[in-house]
Amino acid sequence: MPATVVVGTQWGDEGKGKFTDLVAREMDLVVRYQGGHNAGHTLVVDGVTFALQLVPSGVLYEHTVPVIGNGVVVDPRVLLKEIDQLTAKGVDCTRLKVSGNAHLIMPYHQELDALHERHLGAGKLGTTKRGIGPAYADRAMRTGLRVQDLLDAKIFRQKLSVALGHHNQVLTKVFNRLPLDPDEIAEEYLGMCAPRVAPFIADTVGLVHEAMESGKQVLFEGAQAMFLDLDHGTYPFVTSSNPVSGGACVGAGVGPRDIGRVMGIAKAYVTRVGSGPFPTELFDDVGEHLVDVGHEYGTNTGRRRRTGWFDAVMLRQAARVNGLTEIALTKLDVLDSLDSLQVCVAYESGRDRYEYMPYHQSVIHDAKPIYEELPGWNTDISGITEPGNLPRAAADYVAFLESQIGVPIRLVGVGPGREQFFDRTA
Ligand code: GDP
Ligand code: IMO
Ligand code: MG
Repeated sequence: MPATVVVGTQWGDEGKGKFTDLVAREMDLVVRYQGGHNAGHTLVVDGVTFALQLVPSGVLYEHTVPVIGNGVVVDPRVLLKEIDQLTAKGVDCTRLKVSGNAHLIMPYHQELDALHERHLGAGKLGTTKRGIGPAYADRAMRTGLRVQDLLDAKIFRQKLSVALGHHNQVLTKVFNRLPLDPDEIAEEYLGMCAPRVAPFIADTVGLVHEAMESGKQVLFEGAQAMFLDLDHGTYPFVTSSNPVSGGACVGAGVGPRDIGRVMGIAKAYVTRVGSGPFPTELFDDVGEHLVDVGHEYGTNTGRRRRTGWFDAVMLRQAARVNGLTEIALTKLDVLDSLDSLQVCVAYESGRDRYEYMPYHQSVIHDAKPIYEELPGWNTDISGITEPGNLPRAAADYVAFLESQIGVPIRLVGVGPGREQFFDRTA
């Protein structure tokens, strides 16, 4: 049975959590394939809000197995805290599986992330300071520790000694900080975390393939998004993994032919948190309005998100790179009280016009959006669950975006709640 991927198409926080949860209703496995607890995926079920960082969004259904794949970077302390918080809310996390090949985020990764940001000064990336970049860097350097190392104290200590031998030099000699104590780290990771994480560790590649071979439904849940992708995003203002749909192949251990459906999640406008270019960014009252009405503050970090008009150039690029088969549009309701709306249909830079994302970073920084104006609808649409009941201007807005992108917009979100959406193809 071919699998489904849910992927962010902008700069993150599109509402992947909500739609992953919605689609997970029909799924047997929900697999995270990259990123770490830099993600914050919000689900609102029966008025109760869940903000997930590492645990896949399928966890709320008893029939799904949530899986953390090999491509994820795992801070075991955060994972256990999240499991405890979910358990306290009555969510059963015992079905969770964690790949033994996933890499561990270590205390020095977090410290190095913060120090590196400080070192960059005004040019900082605005990372979440969760240690994501340094953990993936250690993976690439082949000095990382993996989840499976929690099961073997001797190996864990050996690898820690090698990694810390290097990182303590950097901490003390480059950043003038105190060295970290390997015994303290080992005590926390081996003594406190390992016994509790051990029951969740599994061969997740085997699990995913056995599920697909027996006709079960598998969903790959992307974190972050296309334009935060290490290869395809607005480098260097990106994360250190591959959120694009192809990342699911590497980060979960499947082939391209195993994926049949790719659902891109797009907000009805654009937000970004952290530094980097943002051609349609708004610095006026409309931008403020989107922050206020859309509650555009980071799920975990609480940072204010930057806001801007919908950008069809980004979505066309995302459709290509991810092989989108459908789009779920979120937060259409946030536009309810605007008199008119702008949609960026292309960029202009010098004499050139761009319908796809320019590859050159300087062009992206310099790009002037070309807008088309559409009328607003001045109606509360948050209760609409039938596409036929949508005000004409709202239906036209969605149809216009669809025609600009060239990929069907199937699901449309009109509020944070699980039931607040409609299906245009139903
Ligand atoms: P993710 O990281 O892509 O999962 O998105 P976040 O959870 O970080 O941010 C999306 C926010 O929008 C959350 O607070 C959601 O509850 C909320 N949300 C999702 N879909 C909708 C929608 O259709 N309308 C409104 N008003 N809020 C939504
Ligand atoms: P979800 O899954 C929005 C951004 C950070 C920063 C850059 C690098 O909730 O959509 P990192 O800590 O990953 O090294 O930071 O990426 N970023 C996100 N922005 N949503 C996210 O996740 C993000 N995860 C990372 O703000 O600009
Ligand atoms: Mg988020």
